[in-house]
Amino acid sequence: MALYSDKVMEHFINPRNVGVIEDADGIGEAGNAKCGDIMKMYLKIEDDIIKDVKFETFGCASAIASSSMATELIKGKPVSEAMMLTNKAVAEALDGLPAYKMHCSVLAEEAIQKALDDYNEKHKK
Ligand code: FES
Repeated sequence: MALYSDKVMEHFINPRNVGVIEDADGIGEAGNAKCGDIMKMYLKIEDDIIKDVKFETFGCASAIASSSMATELIKGKPVSEAMMLTNKAVAEALDGLPAYKMHCSVLAEEAIQKALDDYNEKHKK
């Protein structure tokens, strides 16, 4: 069996939503101290909907595929739904990750959570 699913390979080779949002409403960064990989998420939010999301990931194939899939899963969704995104959901949407690569999907969950925290902090009434 191949190490990575076709979906992981496809999102790694052709990642969606790569880049920076200059006037982002929320920015979150997550890193893994063991492997040294870093992921940064930028959110554009209007009327509580994720209008746009972009990422920069300096990391392995699984981290890049996880970032790409996570952005696809939250784009166009309400903030409340994006807050519930788990790394398991990201890995499942990628048709699975090898067990020792699950931590790569955790980076996506954490970076999005932090970006949403940043947004909530900035928009506290
Ligand atoms: Fe570190 Fe994948 S090996 S995020």
